Amino acid sequence: MSSNDQGPVLIFGATGRHGGTGARVIERLKAAGRSVRAVVRTDDGRAEQLRQSGVRTMVGNMHDRRTLVPALEGVSSVYVAYPVAAGVALALANVASVIHELGSSPHVVVNSHGTVALDSPSGISREFAIGEELLVRLGVNVTVLRVSAFFYENVLLAHSGTIRETGVFANCFGDSRPPWISATDAADLFAVALLEPSTYAGSPIVYPPGYERLSHQEIADIISEETGRDVRYQYITQDEWIGQLTAAAVHSGGLVSDAMIQHLTTHARMTEDNTTIARMDVDPSALATASGRPPLSFRDFVKQHRAAFGAVPEEP
Ligand SMILES: NC(=O)c1ccc[n+]([C@@H]2O[C@H](COP(=O)([O-])OP(=O)(O)OC[C@H]3O[C@@H](n4cnc5c(N)ncnc54)[C@H](OP(=O)(O)O)[C@@H]3O)[C@@H](O)[C@H]2O)c1
Repeated sequence: MSSNDQGPVLIFGATGRHGGTGARVIERLKAAGRSVRAVVRTDDGRAEQLRQSGVRTMVGNMHDRRTLVPALEGVSSVYVAYPVAAGVALALANVASVIHELGSSPHVVVNSHGTVALDSPSGISREFAIGEELLVRLGVNVTVLRVSAFFYENVLLAHSGTIRETGVFANCFGDSRPPWISATDAADLFAVALLEPSTYAGSPIVYPPGYERLSHQEIADIISEETGRDVRYQYITQDEWIGQLTAAAVHSGGLVSDAMIQHLTTHARMTEDNTTIARMDVDPSALATASGRPPLSFRDFVKQHRAAFGAVPEEP
């Protein structure tokens, strides 16, 4: 390991509200004694909280190359969490271009997903593929972790509102049993890649598997058991789910975009009709090795979010 490996780590996506992997990655880096800087789009309360925890913040935007030059100067590692949203090809191209111009060789770890491909039916997955290809072709020292599982946090984002209000939720996954992972466990994989780059030295692109496979009926059963409510799952077509998500998006505080809806519903439908290009296996032991603790199950996740799923508060 060279002394350069102990330089600052730059975080894109420190303020996330979906998986929020940036916050967990920062926690792990700080515990390991690394100095951390973060690019924030807005200098708001979340930026102030980062500063109070010892993170140096720099206002910038991955879509504005000019702001990335000072941010990337002198860093030895970079973590990229881009949301499930359009625009990631430009974002990754800017990172690649600035690193190329600086002539530096930071280790860049990209939080990506298992369905990324140049010809994917999801626009977001195609954009990731182009951006990742640019990083590799410009000679950037990059590790892309295409996490091959859905985040449990998707259930919170897409379904907790209707579960709270009606006890019923619907989508086009049908009876399929996709692989799942907590964003916390995924973040631990990214932290390991940053702290111990040799872990993934074999290839710039790797496909970490998830923790457990669950159908949405099983998800409904677990939420029912953990909240004491009768929660039911219904199959609807992709078009019907697009309609529901589009109607609900206005209340998502900007988190749910048309690109995310296209992405999520397409991959759900492809899981349902067995045309998905993602790996479907799971490997709990690989996750435990990376994080040094048992991975979080979906049941644990629901226990942490009982109120969001409408559980009646327990008597003190
Ligand atoms: N969800 C899943 O099922 C799943 C599964 C496997 C892998 N993944 C991967 O996980 C990634 C998302 O990670 P996450 O959930 O940790 O993200 P997240 O919680 O959505 O956070 C995204 C972060 O990116 C920041 N950001 C957005 N646009 C930016 C820009 N133009 N310039 C700089 N920063 C910007 C946001 O800042 P603001 O606070 O300003 O918005 C936020 O801090 C996805 O790209 C996907 O490939 C997801």
